[in-house]
Amino acid sequence: MNRTKIILVGIFTCMSVYLFASAPPPLNDQNGVRAGARMVEVEKLFNAVNAANEAARTIYTKRIVGVGLKIGFKYGEDWAEPNVEEGPLPALFLRLVAQQLETKPPRLGLYLGSDEPINKSNLFTGEQAKVFTTLKQTRAPIFKQDEMIGYVAMYPDIAGAQPCVACHNDHLDSPKTDWELNDVMGATTWTYPKGLIGSSEYLETLDAVFQSIEETYALYLEKTESFQQPIPITDEWPSKTNVVLPNAKIFMAEVRRASAETILIQLASNQPKEDVQ
Ligand code: HEC
Repeated sequence: MNRTKIILVGIFTCMSVYLFASAPPPLNDQNGVRAGARMVEVEKLFNAVNAANEAARTIYTKRIVGVGLKIGFKYGEDWAEPNVEEGPLPALFLRLVAQQLETKPPRLGLYLGSDEPINKSNLFTGEQAKVFTTLKQTRAPIFKQDEMIGYVAMYPDIAGAQPCVACHNDHLDSPKTDWELNDVMGATTWTYPKGLIGSSEYLETLDAVFQSIEETYALYLEKTESFQQPIPITDEWPSKTNVVLPNAKIFMAEVRRASAETILIQLASNQPKEDVQ
C-alpha cells in the first residue's frame, strides 16, 4: 500500500466513524434549512455501493471459495437445502445480498445478468442487451435513465479470479465454455428511483448495502455450523494449512478496507448542490 492510499484509508476510517457512529442530529440554520441537506448525484451512490459489492464478491470468491475449494469446502446451487453441506456460489452470494437489500428501506435494486448465462433467467434482453453490448466493448460503467425504473447503472462483471473462469467453463448449463481471465462475464445492474439524493439518504443506502453483505456472509457461517463437522470460525482466513473461516467482523473489515478508497473518492469529488426543496 502506498502512502497516499494509507492516508486515504485513514481519513475514510475517521470519517466513517464520525458519520456512522457519532454524527450529531442535523441542525437548522437561521433560514430553517437543514444543515447538511446537500444533494449527491445518484451516479456517485451507484459507484459507492458497487465498490462495496465488488469488494465483497472478490473477497468471497478469492479468499473463501477459491481457497476453500482446495481444502475441501464445497459451494453449489443447492447450498441452502437442509442436508447439503455447501456454501453459496459467488453469483448466489450476490443474489442473497440483493434479497437482504429488498428487506431494507432504501429503494436500491441489484441484479446480475449476462448474454451467456448459466441460468437463463439471468439473460439480458431488449434494451438491457443493447446496453450490455456497448459495455462489453468499453468496459466502463453506463448510467441511464429509464422511464419505468428511474435511474440505472450497469457495471462490467469481470472474471477477476480463476475460479470464475474454471467454474463457468465446466458448468453443464453454461452456453460458453471458453471464458478467459479478465473477460466481461456479465453486468452488475443497480437501480434507484431518484437522480439526486440527500447526503443522509446516501449514507443510509450505503450502510444498507454493507449490512446486507454482512447478513449474507452470516447466513453462510450459520449454515456451516449445521455441518456434521462444523468449520471453526476464527479471526483467520482459510489457507492450505488452516481449515477455518473468518468471522463476520473480520470479513466485513476486509470488505470495508477494500472499498474505502473508491467510496471516499465519490464523496470527495462531489460538487454539492444546495437542496432547494
Ligand atoms: C463454483 C462455481 C462458480 C464460480 C466460482 C463463479 N460462478 Fe458465476 N455462476 C455460477 C452459477 C451456477 C451461476 C448461475 C447462478 C444462478 O442460478 O443465478 C452463475 C452466475 C453468474 C452470472 C450471471 C449470469 C449467469 O451465468 O447465470 C455472472 C455474470 C457470473 N456468474 C460471473 C461470475 C464471476 C465474475 C465470477 C468470479 C468473481 C463467478 N461467476 C464465479 C457458478 C460460478
